[in-house]
Amino acid sequence: MSSSGEAELLHTFKGIPFTTRSSPELLKSLDTFDAREDDVLLVSYPKSGTHWLAGVITKLYDTQVTVTSPIELGDISRLEELNKLSSKRIIPTHLDYNMLPPNFKNKKCKMIYISRNPKDTAVSMFHYYRDNPNLPTVDSWTAFFDLFLKGNVVCGSWFDHFLSWEEHEDEKNILFLFYEDMKKDLPKVVKEITLFLNLNVSDDDIQDICQKSSFSEMKNDTEKENSDPSHTVCALTSNRKLIFRKGAVGDWKNYFTPKQNIRFQEIFNEKMKLSKM
Ligand code: A3P
Repeated sequence: MSSSGEAELLHTFKGIPFTTRSSPELLKSLDTFDAREDDVLLVSYPKSGTHWLAGVITKLYDTQVTVTSPIELGDISRLEELNKLSSKRIIPTHLDYNMLPPNFKNKKCKMIYISRNPKDTAVSMFHYYRDNPNLPTVDSWTAFFDLFLKGNVVCGSWFDHFLSWEEHEDEKNILFLFYEDMKKDLPKVVKEITLFLNLNVSDDDIQDICQKSSFSEMKNDTEKENSDPSHTVCALTSNRKLIFRKGAVGDWKNYFTPKQNIRFQEIFNEKMKLSKM
């Protein structure tokens, strides 16, 4: 990773690297955030399919909902801004469970955690690092691979993030989803989401929503829209064009060397030995 300008792009809060788009003052004040019982949180480690999920969920409501930008994005004025929203809020976040404002937990707000094969997540994040001026420069896939495994990337270790949420997987207000399941059978996953959110959506409407949420449709929409700069659900960029890259399962096979795959698998097995994944 190049060192030029790097110091200004990232800072560490509670041991986790954040970009300077998340101010330390905001991160310190998150604990005071006033959640509402009907808030819905969309939680993910970056590059796990957050925009896809957000695109689907907004189409499920027939009442006014606002998908906010991520709760950890911005400076201290963010909390006030979110407070002022009168419509129902769908709030994305990349925070790990331990950093989540306690009010969301106390009020048992509904939370949807989307996860993705960490190998594909790593490859997606590598490209994101390369294309995103808010993130430090990476010199090569090999260099990024090491950083990812050490958790020395923005939002920290994939393993820690996943495990912090998986520990709460049995709580009724948390729904766990997998990117790969969405790829395999989107209508099935969307049905599951509607049941979780208590939304009455017909099977025909679900089919229609799934068609409108395909990778190509979402990518085209972004290109057509000429992107509203403040409308990504990722705290790391406001440029929607950076989000829709390939949208495939298994792209890691085009990047991992056999040696890297063995190393990844060893670390995965060790870190995830208590996980159900
Ligand atoms: P790739 O870089 O592998 O293409 P996030 O929204 O959490 O930042 O995740 C971005 C990843 O989700 C990108 O992965 C992106 O292409 C993929 N993605 C976005 N919309 C998608 C869709 N409708 N279908 C499948 N994948 C999608």
